Amino acid sequence: MSFKNSTLVSDIKNTVVGKPYLATTQNLGYIPKLCPAPEKAFTILGSGDSVFQLVYSGAKRIEAVDANEEQFRVFSLRRAAIMALEYKDFCDFLLRPYGKKFLSRGIFERVLPHFQFGENETSLFWKDFFGAIKITDIVTYKCFFRGGIEFCGNETKKSLAYIENPKAYKQLKANLKAASIRLHHDDAIDFLIRNGLDYDWVDISNILIYYYQCVANRGPDIFEKNLRRLAEAWNDSANNPSSTMVLDYMFGIGKHELENGTIKSRTARSICESGLLEIYDRIFTTLTANFGRLKIMEVRELADAMPTKGPMDSVIYVTGRPL
Ligand SMILES: C[S@@+](CC[C@H](N)C(=O)[O-])C[C@H]1O[C@@H](n2cnc3c(N)ncnc32)[C@H](O)[C@@H]1O
Repeated sequence: MSFKNSTLVSDIKNTVVGKPYLATTQNLGYIPKLCPAPEKAFTILGSGDSVFQLVYSGAKRIEAVDANEEQFRVFSLRRAAIMALEYKDFCDFLLRPYGKKFLSRGIFERVLPHFQFGENETSLFWKDFFGAIKITDIVTYKCFFRGGIEFCGNETKKSLAYIENPKAYKQLKANLKAASIRLHHDDAIDFLIRNGLDYDWVDISNILIYYYQCVANRGPDIFEKNLRRLAEAWNDSANNPSSTMVLDYMFGIGKHELENGTIKSRTARSICESGLLEIYDRIFTTLTANFGRLKIMEVRELADAMPTKGPMDSVIYVTGRPL
């Protein structure tokens, strides 16, 4: 693919293609710990789990961005399912890939009336999808989706407060009715540089490896330059000392390795792992150079979804703004 004449936004939009995530691969337990109740939040949409987690925590206004339009369809399906289904049915329908009711057409019939006004095209898409599939199991799932549940199964539930129990799920349903959620098909970094970061909570985790690989094709130092612009936009935004920005989520990487600069000296088990370790190291160095000292929270790894292996994942973030 040539990147010569296109902008970075369209590079990302044009290159992020393929199967959407049905559930997160991250341990999103960090969201309520780092920001118990954000008023105004910005996040990558991905599977939608971080949006639901934020709405459950009481966030009123959320902007969610994704470069892959398929994620918008998945989000609409999951939101309609939450509005339509009781707790157990929701879990059977979307979270138990080895169960008999996973992606069940019968359950979908009950979800269908709950798509929102303006989601006609999406509901028709899902009607065709559920009409066409013959078997509702992990094989069907893998034809269209990726990520999350085939790796984590029930573990996903443990990291997500909104589906921890029926009471929490009921609270999410109530909060969803009042929340304002705006979805944008865009490159998250470009979006923030253009529009500023006037949020209590910004979460761009788990896109930087991909971003690094995309922009590396455009020439040297573009990655560094864009992260510098992002840091400038963060510093220029409204002064809110309690805001938090999650910059990345590194799978299988411990806090001590980041702090001691030893990621690259780890003995990699595969070429893929050693390539990723190098990119993680470059990302961490670039973030430190632009955002200053970074905070790191370790969380237990839930999904064995990446070649970088380790019991803990690291959430890298900054808080507050300079006075
Ligand atoms: C690995 S997922 C993680 C998302 C989220 N944190 C979650 O737990 O579901 C990555 C998502 O980010 C999207 N993405 C990757 N690079 C992006 C970018 N620069 N801007 C917006 N979305 C991007 C992909 O399309 C994908 O849906």
